[in-house]
Amino acid sequence: MHVLSVSSLKGGVGKTTVALGLASAAFARGLRTLVVDLDPQCDASTGLGAIGEFKETVADVLLNPRHNIVHRAIVASSWGKVQSGHIDVMLGSPKALNFDTPNPTLRDVWKLEEALSRVEKDYDLVIIDTPPSINGLTRTAWVASDRVLIVSEPAIFSVVAAERAMRAIEELRRALTPRLQALGVVINRYRPQSKEHEFRANELHEMFGEQVLHVRLEERATMQQAQGAARPIHTWPGDSAAEIAGIFDEILAAALASFVEHVGKRAAKSEKRFARLSRIMRGQNLDTVLEIEALEQKLEEPADIFEALDVSEDSQPTEIAESATESEPIEAEEKTNEA
Ligand SMILES: Nc1ncnc2c1ncn2[C@@H]1O[C@H](COP(=O)(O)OP(=O)(O)OP(=O)(O)O)[C@@H](O)[C@H]1O
Ligand SMILES: [Mg+2]
Repeated sequence: MHVLSVSSLKGGVGKTTVALGLASAAFARGLRTLVVDLDPQCDASTGLGAIGEFKETVADVLLNPRHNIVHRAIVASSWGKVQSGHIDVMLGSPKALNFDTPNPTLRDVWKLEEALSRVEKDYDLVIIDTPPSINGLTRTAWVASDRVLIVSEPAIFSVVAAERAMRAIEELRRALTPRLQALGVVINRYRPQSKEHEFRANELHEMFGEQVLHVRLEERATMQQAQGAARPIHTWPGDSAAEIAGIFDEILAAALASFVEHVGKRAAKSEKRFARLSRIMRGQNLDTVLEIEALEQKLEEPADIFEALDVSEDSQPTEIAESATESEPIEAEEKTNEA
């Protein structure tokens, strides 16, 4: 299972549109796909036809990621009625807003990671739609992710927001979750006739180089129509829809290729801390990770993870279990990473 967040620190640039387009591409490709709707506006749930009264949602999962709760918060998308395939949604909820605090605890940001470990075998790809901020919910999404795709419009404030998002991803990667990487920046709502758009798109290319995806998503009414009908763009009629679907196929292909690129290379021998931290793989519970972190702190320079996450003192572990003192050789861990 691989996890991709779709984010931007600016609202309305097309995060949900891109998340749904990628979900459509994954669905068409036959991947077992889960969309996690972490945005309290619940647009992704709506787009996947998951509307109605549901008892459990992502808000309950963030409170308590127990097996039963996680399973009850996941429902089948109505897309499966149009075409055979496997696509589910972890339901969004306005109550998720309670978790969007500026200073989340480490325990809070780990909740989704823990929840996803419960369904690890059930999906090939998880796509997380995030709210437009760097608060608790987006960090929760990133901690659970292998990659983040940043969406940007070719406009001044979006460019600035993309830059901030890339920096925030890098900070979180260094601080807490080495497997996290930016997939890149995708330009959305591009209008080829607009000089301003061309200027801003070039600016993005200069700023991020290779990290800007070479495909651009243009401003197209078809996108809104398919979304409004809660249908995957891959089943929407017409040439425009087919063209957009093709672009989402390309972005998905880039994501899938990036998942298999081995992160191990980055864990150069000199970066011991990185190598050790690569233990933090999905499926380990937070307590184990905290034990390893505590051990790290004893062994080397103080880890900056708590600072980076603005985690308050009292949420740090006070006791270190004996079991954490058994550390495996770094080489073995690098292999795990490449697998
Ligand atoms: N390429 C596009 N062409 C036409 N319309 C688009 C395109 N991308 C997004 N839109 C429209 O723009 C609006 C905002 O897009 P979307 O909801 O995906 O943004 P968002 O970043 O998820 O917003 P929020 O920050 O509120 O979650 C929607 O009505 C959507 O249909
Ligand atoms: Mg959205």
